[in-house]
Amino acid sequence: MRPSTLITRPPNGLHVAIIMDGNGRWAAAHGLPRPAGHRRGAETVRTIVEAAPSLGIRALTLYAFSADNWQRPPREVGALMRLFRMYLRGEASRLASIGVRLSVIGRRDRLSASLRAAIDEAESMTAQGRTVHLRLAIDYSSRDAIARAATALHDAGEPVTRAALGEALGEVLGDGEGPCARAGDVDLLVRTGGERRLSDFLLWECAYAELWFSDIMWPAFTAADLAAAVSDFHGRERRFGGLVPLPTQPAARAV
Ligand code: FPP
Repeated sequence: MRPSTLITRPPNGLHVAIIMDGNGRWAAAHGLPRPAGHRRGAETVRTIVEAAPSLGIRALTLYAFSADNWQRPPREVGALMRLFRMYLRGEASRLASIGVRLSVIGRRDRLSASLRAAIDEAESMTAQGRTVHLRLAIDYSSRDAIARAATALHDAGEPVTRAALGEALGEVLGDGEGPCARAGDVDLLVRTGGERRLSDFLLWECAYAELWFSDIMWPAFTAADLAAAVSDFHGRERRFGGLVPLPTQPAARAV
């Protein structure tokens, strides 16, 4: 029987995904309004992206705004959207200069025209980056991404066998609306802010992800904290449903 469709071994570096939680609580603890927490969170993004290559990370997917985050008060949503636009406009050339390729995954049809333009520009300015693939998930829902990928396959009209479907789905997931943004399976999923849930993030890609939960609020998360998560990851035994290979037995001596 065909095993699962996972591409299990990180080919040349890790794919790390981060649920950046705790901006609001960090702000409250410092007597600041919530948007101030998000602004500090954007500074943490910069720090973490810079640290990624030295930690052996080839792809970094950051959960910036979930499809469910539209339920937040319009003022907070507006502040976040402005922050994303400012980040993309302000960081794209620096990201390009350090070899980072940026992609945005998620729906784009509900974003403002100016944010969509900033995304397009940042993606094309950084398209040649080969050091780290930074993927920002904006208006992202993993269930929605899976449903859209399945619909795209159906619309393509090719008859697919059940086994091939999983593979094909893995191929089209993450494509978003921009240039190919897929990054394959997640090796390590980090969530900051003390909660321990997935919140509709990369459900398909995290099938065999190692999980790391940190109580640190995202604005206070440092490169050393990420290094600790990566170091712990390297100490884990990943079996992907198989067994640990036993040491080879010495051949029985003939008597
Ligand atoms: C969750 O914390 C965080 C978000 C919904 C937004 C994430 C955004 C950033 C880190 C800002 C910058 C990002 C980029 C890419 C420039 P929360 O607000 O739910 O915190 P809480 O649980 O403490 O209320």
